[in-house]
Amino acid sequence: MRMLLNADDYRSRARKFLPRGLFDYIDRGTEDEVALRRLRASLDEITLMPSVLTGHDRRSFDTALLGQRLAVPLVVAPTALAGLVAHDGETKLARAASRVGIPVCISTQSVTTVETIRRGAPDATLWFQLYVWRDRALTAGLLERARACGCETLVVTADTPVSPNREYNRRNGFGIPFVPSLRSTIDVARHPRWLVGVLARYLLSEGMPTYGHYPDEFRAAITRPNIAEAVRLDHRLNWDDVRWLRQLWPGKLIIKGVLAVKDAETAAELGCDAIVVSAHGGRNLDCLPAPAECLPAIVEAVGGRLTVLADSGVRRGTDVLKYLALGAGAVLLGRLPLWGLAAGGEAGAEAVLRMIVAEMDAAMAFLGAECVSGLQAPLR
Ligand SMILES: Cc1cc2nc3c(=O)[nH]c(=O)nc-3n(C[C@H](O)[C@H](O)[C@H](O)COP(=O)(O)O)c2cc1C
Repeated sequence: MRMLLNADDYRSRARKFLPRGLFDYIDRGTEDEVALRRLRASLDEITLMPSVLTGHDRRSFDTALLGQRLAVPLVVAPTALAGLVAHDGETKLARAASRVGIPVCISTQSVTTVETIRRGAPDATLWFQLYVWRDRALTAGLLERARACGCETLVVTADTPVSPNREYNRRNGFGIPFVPSLRSTIDVARHPRWLVGVLARYLLSEGMPTYGHYPDEFRAAITRPNIAEAVRLDHRLNWDDVRWLRQLWPGKLIIKGVLAVKDAETAAELGCDAIVVSAHGGRNLDCLPAPAECLPAIVEAVGGRLTVLADSGVRRGTDVLKYLALGAGAVLLGRLPLWGLAAGGEAGAEAVLRMIVAEMDAAMAFLGAECVSGLQAPLR
């Protein structure tokens, strides 16, 4: 079997393990996947200038971020339905992140609830990602639950007002609610390790996996139609909602999906603690600029007022260093930990994270930097 030495190896292993519909859902972008290619191109074209003969004994990635200490400036990004990648996948991700010394952000649309994840990963630093539901009282109730589980950092996703146009999901019959078709049934049958190791384990315990946080009275198994109106994502979300959330949430508040300087400034004015400069991994809108193109102007405009994080397109440790050199305080990883989880469960997720850290460390040695602040501004 092929050794797992880089992100692509993990991705290939995940492709073998997961049904095609699930693999594509994680791997691909939106529409013609222009944004996805642009992400890669924007990172590939950045170069970092080394300082030679700096004589540092070792590198340190120890980072203070939003009142927390991170061993490395990385965060496991919120990913919906990560629990379909491995049985109890979200808890496994949380434990893997905890062992590496970084936070994990739980999605509103996780399979496993934040309470169960907390029980399974008592030492993990859990952040909570919010998709604001139309019913604000239910939304507030969800935040209460997250807080009661020790989540101190709330990530409000601002870049997903409607469902993205992902044609491959429709062709594969992969959707929420999941409606089995001949094609999807054959797909699952052709991946017996996933069928037995993931789906069957859910079916034998709690039944067909669902969005775990959706309230009991609205919760529908994902094979059943329509999630109730009250818990639909609210496409009318606006800055007044951020004002409301700022009052409601006593912990750190992060707005995810910012690309425009003006929006970053508004987030700072409203007292947000951080933003994530993100193109949602190229999964939402196909004509978006890449975060690497937007970061420098945003950092210059608001860097002194709030923390600027970044994500999208990271496949190597050097990609992380590029975002950091552009001014990001930390970088979120979406698909990479999922590939690790698919390839080797909890140990695989941890291994992928450690691989990225090792790549970062070696690149820092080549660059002659002792810590992240020693990175020189990127050349283009
Ligand atoms: C399968 C999958 C599910 C995702 N679900 C969410 C989500 O529920 N909420 C959210 O804010 N972002 C979600 N994202 C976006 C990630 O948080 C992150 O912005 C993106 O994956 C970063 O790009 P990368 O995958 O290239 O690292 C998802 C991404 C993937 C791949």
